[in-house]
Amino acid sequence: MADLAVEAVYSYAGRVATPDRQPIETRVGGFGGVEGLIDYLRDRRITHIIDATHPFAAQISRNVSAAATATSLPLIALTRPPWTPIDGDQWTTATDMADAVKHVETKEKRRIFLAIGRTEISAFRRVPQHHYLLRMVEPPATPPSMPDHTLVIARGPFDEASDRELIQHHEIDLVVSKNSGGAGAYAKIGAARALGLPVLMINRPRLPTRREVSEVDEVIAWLHHTDTERGV
Ligand SMILES: NC(=O)c1ccc[n+]([C@@H]2O[C@H](COP(=O)([O-])OP(=O)(O)OC[C@H]3O[C@@H](n4cnc5c(N)ncnc54)[C@H](OP(=O)(O)O)[C@@H]3O)[C@@H](O)[C@H]2O)c1
Repeated sequence: MADLAVEAVYSYAGRVATPDRQPIETRVGGFGGVEGLIDYLRDRRITHIIDATHPFAAQISRNVSAAATATSLPLIALTRPPWTPIDGDQWTTATDMADAVKHVETKEKRRIFLAIGRTEISAFRRVPQHHYLLRMVEPPATPPSMPDHTLVIARGPFDEASDRELIQHHEIDLVVSKNSGGAGAYAKIGAARALGLPVLMINRPRLPTRREVSEVDEVIAWLHHTDTERGV
């Protein structure tokens, strides 16, 4: 956007204390639901909406779709295609987080790399018998409640060789992952395959139907082909 000299605002949810800097105007924090978002879009005279959030951040995507419909603003989603298993992968699929928890309700103690981010880890409190390897961008405000865990603070993207090393060092026997797609988070999946380990892959949440592309160039083409009278 900065290169295109398009007026644009980048909206962060505010989950990370030190987000990456952006070369365009940045705002942080929720809008106050759909109504708050509609007010913001009108106040700022926004003309186009690009939903480039994480595929599991379902609430903001639902809010954005509803607000785009209510304001008749054009909306495009920039998403990473989901990963699909290839030769050598040993995936079990979970429909959502609750289903993933059910999959590890076993008496047998496992050593799990729970690579699902910070916000939903508490779902696994119901299965405290396992050892959990947790990786987070920043230290959590309150320590994870699982009795047996190791916390690693690191910010991606990660590479397969170091994830292989991490998995081996912690003697992991199961990787639990969201199907986020993209290259930066794929390292653990490739590492699990190389080490012959199973992966419990959590499917994406259902989102409203919207125009969806996977390349930045497609978003730029869309911007050029829709009315830009007032800028973005
Ligand atoms: N969920 C995941 O698995 C996941 C994984 C990796 C990264 N992330 C990142 O973490 C952030 C939030 O994820 P989440 O799971 O909390 O999302 P969420 O459940 O969809 O959103 C919860 C609330 O956070 C606010 N919000 C979310 N994204 C926002 C944005 N870009 N700008 C302003 N407000 C936003 C909204 O508040 P109001 O209703 O008040 O507007 C929204 O209702 C996103 O930026 C996402 O890219 C999420």
